[in-house]
Amino acid sequence: MSAAVDVLDVASIKRDFPLLARTVRAGRPLVYLDSAATSQKPVEVLNAERNFYESHNAAVHRGAHQLAEEATEAYEAARATIAGFVHAMPPEIVFTKNATESINLVAYAFSNSTDLARGGHPADPRFVLSPGDEILITEMEHHANLVPWQQVALKTGATLRWIPLTDDGRLDLTDLETLLTERTRLLAVVHQSNILGTLNPVESLVRSARAVGALTLVDACQSVPHMPIDVWAMGADLVAWSGHKMLGPTGIGVLWGIPEVLAAMPPFISGGSMIANVTMAGSTFAAPPQRFEAGVPMTAQAVGLAAACDYLDRIGMAKVAEHEHALTSYALMRLEAIEGVEIVGPVEPVDRGSAVSFTVAGIHPHDVGQVLDDRGIAVRVGHHCAWPVCRRYGVPATTRASFYIYNSTEDVDALAEGVVAAQEFFGGAR
Ligand code: ALA
Repeated sequence: MSAAVDVLDVASIKRDFPLLARTVRAGRPLVYLDSAATSQKPVEVLNAERNFYESHNAAVHRGAHQLAEEATEAYEAARATIAGFVHAMPPEIVFTKNATESINLVAYAFSNSTDLARGGHPADPRFVLSPGDEILITEMEHHANLVPWQQVALKTGATLRWIPLTDDGRLDLTDLETLLTERTRLLAVVHQSNILGTLNPVESLVRSARAVGALTLVDACQSVPHMPIDVWAMGADLVAWSGHKMLGPTGIGVLWGIPEVLAAMPPFISGGSMIANVTMAGSTFAAPPQRFEAGVPMTAQAVGLAAACDYLDRIGMAKVAEHEHALTSYALMRLEAIEGVEIVGPVEPVDRGSAVSFTVAGIHPHDVGQVLDDRGIAVRVGHHCAWPVCRRYGVPATTRASFYIYNSTEDVDALAEGVVAAQEFFGGAR
């Protein structure tokens, strides 16, 4: 058993999460170590959504009746709460389906602007790409911040470049000056890797990108849920993240943007509610954020996400980060002590978050996952939607444990014991 002490009162937090009380696999207590994929939801979030549907449900920004008014107020109040959580103002917050859609919204701003310019229509030149222009990403991007840029490059003739990785799971910035040049039109970079756990120096990268005149987008899916974030202090033009990884519902993501940058972007999805004026011959568009929220939006989800922000704020994001840092340090220490286990990602608990990927010599990650699952321990196995990272480190897949506020040092102990059990089951480390 561990001598380490949890920073947060995990037993009390766990009581707020109904799902964490259930058992799995023939009555085993659940040890949920897959929050980097999706987090569990506290009762406040479930109640907020339920209360919205029970008492206020209506289509927002339409209708003159009382329910429509209440629903619109709830939706816009949620926007204000979510904005406050990252030190932003409400008009800077665009609701999307998830972070993938947020990033696609930006990608389509580039390809649509390029199409408009090619057709002789007005488009902000910052979003118009031509052959010779470059988009810079990193080798540790989630597919959500890689595939859309491959598509944009295909459509526009721009070139996709990437910052490579060091052997210890960090960005290799040695050749940054040759990668980030006046040809770079966009730097799109992950804040914290979902597979390696690496926390990237986004503030300085963004500063360098701005110095060459590039726009900047940060994928903050794995950082907004886990540490205090001030989007303005980060310095990027655009920041994307999901609701479901931060105790909120699925079906809602966020794109934060500098108002002037959002205003320069053409719409991604068009239809109702995103227009200023419509005739049979053509349409003009509403200002952001409405320009990017066509159709009846995900209102209960916004209300649920605001409840999640309130819940996290009550704990305090600095405390959340401190708790996870201690757990991650302990997990790295326990896993590294097992012969045959290799951490894929930074082994030092410095500038890294709580997603811990590893391999076990001679045992396929899927088999490790199976043994852990039999013991009630939920981890993710596979390439974690970051296939190039697995290729870079010469592994077909990894086993990934990821921690959140409801995890304890006992959960780490269960993980370490489960890995040893897998080695025993498959005949020891080979
Ligand atoms: N992006 C999520 C993960 O890393 C789904 O598991």
